[in-house]
Amino acid sequence: TTWKGIAEIAGVPLSADTVDNWSQIQTFKAKPDDLLICTYPKSGTTWIQEIVDMIEQNGDVEKCQRALIQHRHPFIEWARPPQPSGVDKANEMPSPRTLKSHLPAQLLPPSFWTSNCKFIYVARNAKDCMVSYYHFYRMSQVLPDPGTWDEYFEVFINGKVNWGSWFDHVRGWWEIRDRHQILFLFYEDMKRDPKHEIQKVMQFMGKNLDEKILDKIVQETSFEKMKENPMTNRSTVPKSILDQSISPFMRKGTVGDWKNHFTVAQNERFDELYREKMKGTSINFCMKL
Ligand code: A3P
Repeated sequence: TTWKGIAEIAGVPLSADTVDNWSQIQTFKAKPDDLLICTYPKSGTTWIQEIVDMIEQNGDVEKCQRALIQHRHPFIEWARPPQPSGVDKANEMPSPRTLKSHLPAQLLPPSFWTSNCKFIYVARNAKDCMVSYYHFYRMSQVLPDPGTWDEYFEVFINGKVNWGSWFDHVRGWWEIRDRHQILFLFYEDMKRDPKHEIQKVMQFMGKNLDEKILDKIVQETSFEKMKENPMTNRSTVPKSILDQSISPFMRKGTVGDWKNHFTVAQNERFDELYREKMKGTSINFCMKL
């Protein structure tokens, strides 16, 4: 498989446009009241964005949709000239800002650390993340063709997908979680008890919404609702970028779909690699619900 249009920063594959814009990204000036949503791709980014949006808008669906249309959460490393970059968009935005990034902690613009921002990191178990990313690669018309599942398997475990190794990403963020204001969430917890996790997000954001609004946010951010909603299901993105006839963006939204993809041999190999790469961490993932 050839991986075109991709460059690397410190061994992490990123889109060539992001790499071209790297100095603007690294010198980005974060502000103390910024909130950064950060994830490894396919870990539930859109989901947490919708939750944060709903909390910001006090459960007002209308306002939330308007916010999404206006791209409320600039994607810090996103660059595709001649359109304004993620940094350009963030710079134009009034505070308090909510921003989004998929960058591993060590590549984040340093001002995020020095201005003591708040971060929400969502982690998803490696196997489901890998499966979701595979289908995303298939439907994306701007990413390289992932080839067969078996071919893609090698690329993923070698950390050669965009934004790099899942292991390094999750480990990197996990290890610094107590040194900064990081709310570290798990996709699987959000599935199992969305209300509880949404409550945590609300408290972290310093909001206090009443029970009725909280219940509404739980409903409105369910997979089913978000799959129907053109503002969250990405149906507004042209087919030349995301071809949803190949695989929908809101694909399954479950825990454990990896069992339908991994062979027994791949699973054993993955588990062994996992133990090696995650050795010494206390992080623990749920692999099925
Ligand atoms: P699947 O491909 O496993 O279905 P991201 O937003 O980071 O790109 O992540 C996309 C993944 O999150 C997809 O996973 C998508 O279906 C899932 N997802 C999005 N919204 C969700 C929700 N409300 N509940 C559960 N899963 C959701």
